Amino acid sequence: MTTQSLTLDRPLDMHLHLRDGEMLSLVAPHSASCLAGAVIMPNLVPPVDSLESLLSYRERIRAACGADAERFQPLMTLFFREYSHEELAAARPHLFAVKLYPHGVTTNSEAGVRSIESAAATFQAMEELGIPLLVHGETSGFVMDREREFLPIYERLARQYPRLKITMEHITTKAAVEVLDKYENLAATVTLQHLLITLDDVAGGLLQPHLFCKPIAKRPEDREALLGAALAGHPKLMMGSDSAPHPRHAKEGCGCAAGVYSAPVLLPRLAELFEEHGVLEKLQGFVSDHARAWHDLRNVPARQVTLLKESWTVPMNYTGADGVTTVVPFEAGRTLPWRVRP
Ligand code: NCD
Ligand code: ZN
Repeated sequence: MTTQSLTLDRPLDMHLHLRDGEMLSLVAPHSASCLAGAVIMPNLVPPVDSLESLLSYRERIRAACGADAERFQPLMTLFFREYSHEELAAARPHLFAVKLYPHGVTTNSEAGVRSIESAAATFQAMEELGIPLLVHGETSGFVMDREREFLPIYERLARQYPRLKITMEHITTKAAVEVLDKYENLAATVTLQHLLITLDDVAGGLLQPHLFCKPIAKRPEDREALLGAALAGHPKLMMGSDSAPHPRHAKEGCGCAAGVYSAPVLLPRLAELFEEHGVLEKLQGFVSDHARAWHDLRNVPARQVTLLKESWTVPMNYTGADGVTTVVPFEAGRTLPWRVRP
C-alpha cells in the first residue's frame, strides 16, 4: 500500500529570502503556513547589518506572517561585516547567525567582504560567542568553477576556527560534499532545485530564467552526489531552500536576476522525490532533525505539518495585494502528488 499521509515534525528552512515590502507580504505566508521556522537571509538593500535593522525586519516579517506568526520562528541573520565583540554580544540573544557574501558574487552582495583575511577579529568574536557563520561559497571565477574554487577557503576557515560552526550554503557540487565530510565544524544546506536539475535544465534547450540561480546548477554527477547524500540521510546536510523570489519582470526581461522561488512547493516536491527513491522515512531528518541537532535548536515552535497524497497543480504565478507584484514559482504548472494539509 502506498503512503497517503506524512507528518513532519518542526520543518525548518535553513536558508530563505523573504525580501521586504509588498514582496514580503506576498511570499512570507508560503513559508509561514507550513514551517516551524526559517533562517532569514539579510541581503536586503541596504543589508541587515545592525541589531536595530534586524529587530525591525523581524517585526515586519511577523506582521507579514499574520495568523502564523506564533507558529513560525524567523531565525534572524546579520549580513557579514567587521563587527566588534560588543556589537555581536548585544545582538546574540536575537541572532541566529552571520551570513557572509563575498563581494559582488550574487544578488545584493555589493557590500560583501573583499578580504576574508582582514575579518579575523570578527570570526574570533563569533567563535567565542558561539555564533554560527553561514557562507555563500563562490569566487568570482568562471561560473561553473566558482564553488570548487572557494572550497580551499572553507577548509582554511574550518581549520583556523575549529569551534566556529560553519555552514556551506546551497552546495551544488560533488567536491563540496567531499569537503563537508573532512571537517567536524562544517555543515551544509542544499536546495530543492539542486537535487533535481542540472545546467542542462537551465540552458540546454530554451533558456529557463526561473531555474537560474547562484550558484548555477552543475553537472549530472554533482546532482547525483547531492541527491545521494540527502537520500542517505547525511547528518550534516540540511534543507535550505534558498527560495529567492524576484518580480517576474526581473526574471523574464533582458538581464535575468538570479534566484529560484521554491517556497510554495518545497515540502510537497521533496516528499515526492524522497518517495520516488523509496526513502520517505529519511525526509524528517533532512527537513528538521539534522538542523536542530547541528545548531542545538531548542526553542523551535512545536509544529507538526501534515502532507496528504492529494494532487494539485502549482499556480503559474502568484500576485500580491497591490495587483502588480508577481512571482513565478518553481514547478509552475506542474501537478504534484503531495500537498500540505491546510
Ligand atoms: C539570492 C537572492 O536572490 O537573494 N539569489 C540566488 O540566486 N540564490 C542570493 C543568494 O543566495 O545567492
Ligand atoms: Zn540565498
